[in-house]
Amino acid sequence: MKVFDVLSALSEPVRVRLLGLLEVEELGVKELQESLSLPQSTISRHLKVLHGRGLVQKRSAGTSSLFRVTQWDASTSSLWASVRPEVEEIRAADIARMQTVLALRREDSEDFFGRHASRWDALREDLFGRDFLVPTLLSLLPGGLVIADLGCGTGEMLARLAPVSGRLIGVDREPAMLREARQRGDFDLRVGELHDLPIEDAELDLALLVLVLHHVAELPPVFAELARVLKPGGRVVILEMVEHDRTGFRRTMGHKHLGFALESLSAPGLTVKRHQLLERSDDALGPGLQLVVLQREPRRRPT
Ligand SMILES: C[S@@+](CC[C@H](N)C(=O)[O-])C[C@H]1O[C@@H](n2cnc3c(N)ncnc32)[C@H](O)[C@@H]1O
Repeated sequence: MKVFDVLSALSEPVRVRLLGLLEVEELGVKELQESLSLPQSTISRHLKVLHGRGLVQKRSAGTSSLFRVTQWDASTSSLWASVRPEVEEIRAADIARMQTVLALRREDSEDFFGRHASRWDALREDLFGRDFLVPTLLSLLPGGLVIADLGCGTGEMLARLAPVSGRLIGVDREPAMLREARQRGDFDLRVGELHDLPIEDAELDLALLVLVLHHVAELPPVFAELARVLKPGGRVVILEMVEHDRTGFRRTMGHKHLGFALESLSAPGLTVKRHQLLERSDDALGPGLQLVVLQREPRRRPT
């Protein structure tokens, strides 16, 4: 039975270490040998077993052979999933050595990316996760901006923006939300209403309104406030739901609007500079989202 083949393959430490690398990378015998610091004959012997039991596949590339794990069935994957955490420490060390081996073999890097184009995203996520994406993109913002998150809730946006903004203000009408936001950092938090913002005239370069406008029955006074608090040329970024039919949201979460058409998210004195429907996350249960960027008229140059 296949399960006994898999169990016997997984009962040997070198084979488990080989699988730990080959699920991340397609590798040749020499790369495996250098990564695990084991004799070539040992690597070849265990690779033969893993290949014979269908756990790894082999591909010819020039004069050498490259190995990687096969598409495992559910029972093999679940056996591996129970073994893997037990060897996580040694696996992480093996992967770190493998990265060094690959990095040092600079002449092979073209070949490496040539071979891994289709798997690079998954490999990058394994090695570095996804958390670096947002700070990297945010660093494109010019420095020194005065930014306010209006309806900031528990302050996640504030925390993300803190490293790249000049001055950061969070406004929310709920003191309980601001108390949560306070836990995330020492921000300038102000209790206030969107239609009567505790912000000076022309104080802001940028205002953010993330999932808040659907709670506001009367939008015109809010847009008038935005035009007041923005510097000439300043921008508002709105993230909102597209129009939807989840009428229950009115009752369960107090929504005043069932999403928005673009026309309802613009106002006199604020020009729509961008409108983008966002791609849906696979795991999102709510309605689709859109981004709208509005700009206050830049100051006219004297003629
Ligand atoms: C759905 S939460 C979104 C919070 C945050 N922007 C986020 O994306 O996690 C809406 C927030 O807006 C605040 N809020 C709703 N209406 C408001 C108003 N008229 N003035 C100020 N804050 C308001 C609520 O207290 C709540 O914290």
